[in-house]
Amino acid sequence: MAAGKGTRMKSQRPKVLHRLGGRALAQHVIDCAARLSARSVVVVTGHGAEQVESGLSAPCATELRFVRQSPQLGTGHAVQQAVPVLPDDGVVLVLNGDVPLIDPGTLEALLQACGGEHLALLSVDTGADATGYGRIVRAPDGERAVLAIVEEKDASDEQRRITEWYSGVMAAPARLLKSLLGRLTNDNRQGEYYLTDVVRHAVAAGQAVKALTTRDEIQVAGVNSPRQLAELERAYQRRVAETLMDQGVRLADPARLDVRGELVCEEDVEIDVNCVFEGRVVLRAGARIGPNCVIANAEIQAGAELQAFTHIQGEKLGVTVGPGAQIGPFARLRPGAQLGADVHIGNFVEVKNSTLAAGAKANHLAYLGDATVGERVNYGAGSITANYDGANKHRTVIEADVHVGSNCVLVAPVTIGAGGTVGAGSTITKSTAPGALSVARGKQVALEGWQRPTKKKG
Ligand code: UD1
Ligand code: CA
Repeated sequence: MAAGKGTRMKSQRPKVLHRLGGRALAQHVIDCAARLSARSVVVVTGHGAEQVESGLSAPCATELRFVRQSPQLGTGHAVQQAVPVLPDDGVVLVLNGDVPLIDPGTLEALLQACGGEHLALLSVDTGADATGYGRIVRAPDGERAVLAIVEEKDASDEQRRITEWYSGVMAAPARLLKSLLGRLTNDNRQGEYYLTDVVRHAVAAGQAVKALTTRDEIQVAGVNSPRQLAELERAYQRRVAETLMDQGVRLADPARLDVRGELVCEEDVEIDVNCVFEGRVVLRAGARIGPNCVIANAEIQAGAELQAFTHIQGEKLGVTVGPGAQIGPFARLRPGAQLGADVHIGNFVEVKNSTLAAGAKANHLAYLGDATVGERVNYGAGSITANYDGANKHRTVIEADVHVGSNCVLVAPVTIGAGGTVGAGSTITKSTAPGALSVARGKQVALEGWQRPTKKKG
C-alpha cells in the first residue's frame, strides 16, 4: 500500500519515495518481497501515483505491477483495488509502503503461520501503551484466539488498554482474502473501509486467525514525519554497520558510517569515521578508507588506501583503484577512472575517464581527463590535459616512463612518446617522439642592470 498522502512529511515528494539508506521507502518493501521470491509485487498508488510508479523498480525475476486507488477510502479499499490482479492460487502478503525495515525472516515466519490456508497477522506487544494503533482483541479463555482488530478511534476504554497492536502486515490465501474483502463496510468512526475488519469477518465465518507477535518495533515502524525518517535511517545504518563488523570489517565508529547502497567488503578492511558509500562499492582485502571519504560505484582493490577526504564518483562507468594504490588526501576520482596497481593520486588531483597503468603518479594539483597513462609515468604538479576543444572531447596518450614537468598543458589529441620528458610550463600541441625532451614556453631572458621604475615626487 502506497497510496497515502503523508501530510506530516510536509513535502512535495510522495512519502513512499523519501529515501532511507539511499533507496525509496517503498523500494525497501519491494526488495524485501523479492527476497521472499514473490511471484509479483502489486503496488497500490494514489497520491502522486505517476511519480511513485516511475520512482520504483522491480529487482530481477520479480514482476512489478501498479494499481491505482482514487479516492483513498481506507486500507481495505486499497487492497480491494489489487483484487483483479491477484491470482486465486496465490498467497497474499499485505505490506505498507512506508514501513521500510521489515525483515524477510519475519515475513517467512508469518507465511508459515498462514500455511497457505489461514489469515495470519503480525502483531506487536512490548507491554507499552499502544495509542494510535489497531488493538488485537483476543478471546478471554485460555486459547486466547484472535477475535478482531479494533481501530483506536472505534475502541472502548477497555480495548484501549490492550497493549498488543496490529503492525499493518498480514498474510492470507488470495481466495480467502478476496472473499473477506467483499464483506467490508465503512460504518465506523472514520467512514473508511478498514482492511483490519477482515479479521472479524474471518472469525464470523468460523476461520481461525493466526497471530505472530514480535517485540522488534523497528521492523514495523512506519515513517510519517522527517523525525521518524531520520530515526529509522539511524536504525538502518546501525544494522548495516553491525552486519559489516560481523563479517570482520573494522569500523572506527559504527555510528559514523553511512551506506546508501550496497557495500561489499573482503577481509581486513578498515573504514575510518564519517565515510559515505553510495551505489555499489566493493572493498577488496586489506583496503583502508580514511576519514571523511565519499565513495560511489567503485571497486577498491586489495591493499589500496584512500586517505582523508577522497571523493569517488563512479556513476555508470565506475571507478577502479588498483591494488596497493595510494589515493588522497583530497583526491577526486570521476567516472571511468581506472587506476592500476600502486598508482599514486595526491591532493587536489582530478581524474576522469582515464586509465593509469601500474606505478603511475600524479601527486599534486592536476587534471587527467580522457587520458591513457602508461606505467611509471610521473605527472607533475599543476599539469592538465586540455581534453575539450569547446565542442568535442579528445584523448591524451602519455606512454610509459614519461615525465611531465610541473604546470604543463597537454592539448588533446596528443601523444607523449615513451620515456619522453616534457619541460615545466610547456603547452604541448603536437605529439612528441619517444625519449625526447620537449619544451614549449617563452625563452627566459635576463636584462642585466635593469632599473626598476621609481615613484615621481610632488
Ligand atoms: C493501520 C491499521 C492499524 C495498524 C496501523 C499500523 C487499518 C484500518 N488500520 O492504521 O490497525 O495498527 O496501520 O501502522 O488498516 N493507505 C492506502 N490507501 C488508503 C489508506 C491508507 O494506500 O486509502 C496506505 C497508507 O499510505 C499507508 C498504509 O496504507 O502506507 C496504512 O495507512 P495508515 O493511514 O497509516 O493506517 P493507520 O490508520 O495508521
Ligand atoms: Ca500509520
